[in-house]
Amino acid sequence: MNVNGQAYRTIWLKPGDDRVVQVINQVKLPHIFEVNELASVEDVCRAIRDMTVRGAGLIGASAAYGMYLACLEAPENGFNDALRRAGESLKATRPTAANLAWAVDRMLGAIGEGNSYSDCGKLARLAAMTIADEDAAHCRRIGSHALPIITAIASQKRGQPVNILTHCNAGWLAFVDVGSATAPIYTAHDAGIPVHVWVDETRPRNQGASLTAWELSQHGVPHTLIADNAGGHLMQHGLVDLVITGADRVTRNGDVANKIGTYLKALAAHDNHIPMYVALPSSTFDFALRDGVNSIQIEERDGDEVRYMTGQTETGAIESVRICPPTTAARNWGFDVTPARLITHLICERGLCDATEEGILSLFPEQR
Ligand code: MRU
Repeated sequence: MNVNGQAYRTIWLKPGDDRVVQVINQVKLPHIFEVNELASVEDVCRAIRDMTVRGAGLIGASAAYGMYLACLEAPENGFNDALRRAGESLKATRPTAANLAWAVDRMLGAIGEGNSYSDCGKLARLAAMTIADEDAAHCRRIGSHALPIITAIASQKRGQPVNILTHCNAGWLAFVDVGSATAPIYTAHDAGIPVHVWVDETRPRNQGASLTAWELSQHGVPHTLIADNAGGHLMQHGLVDLVITGADRVTRNGDVANKIGTYLKALAAHDNHIPMYVALPSSTFDFALRDGVNSIQIEERDGDEVRYMTGQTETGAIESVRICPPTTAARNWGFDVTPARLITHLICERGLCDATEEGILSLFPEQR
């Protein structure tokens, strides 16, 4: 997607030095656009932990490039042990997004095909680039599969914009390109269908306000930022035509872990008979799990993310301010689980399906 008119992905190998990975620093957006360099598996672990890179798809792609860097660092003697340790370190960075472990395991499989030490580096480089390319291609296909949904709503609205509510950032910044929840939006907008996006601010880290609003602005998509708690009110007053979110982990039966607050949006959508779609590439499925509420590990982050807010002052300085009494404690769960029964359809690269085991396996019969 474009940044100030120039095409970018969120992660790539440095031109002229393919031992270095470059990423957009998402902690600094929307105020500062900065590209950071990652040159070791430890750099990648740190970038995932501190959320320089974040979002399920990008966490997976970053882990893939991290395994490539681990190959370059690993000694010939003890290569397999070094790679195993690198994989474990990457997997331990953040627990909820399924794409992380998926990417590490796929990289270990690809590297394991190598017959020699030098072979392994080349295979790892190719596998990481393939994972990144596939991530972008899958998001693009999600957009094509969802276009008829938006077209059908638009045809009933006689030129009025289709109002789409989204939560957090499952945009191109959360993937390698295009995004999952935003793919239908960008595809419809590019096809000339009038769309307008309600952007949940997404406390505590405000990925909606900082990231989704920024990328929609860059692409010229009309949007309005709303407080997290506004969605239900808008739905009651006919101001939301559909909800589209992304996902960090989806179980075999269609339960969806996504950014904290998604469950409440799904309840409100259900109560107001508004369709609730969840868009995800297949790398986000966890086919081993059946009960999302009781089995998906939910990341709990530092309470200071709730106690403080960060933003830019009118003089351009980036500052954090505390919004509660100094001694007030805070808890900070990063994700919640929306039960499958509240989801209208899942949208994947292979098409739409019901959020049920039968529906999901109809698209992924190899997982039966
Ligand atoms: O904590 P983050 O920013 O890594 O959370 C991920 C998200 O942005 C959302 O949960 C998103 O909707 C799904 S990620 C494709």
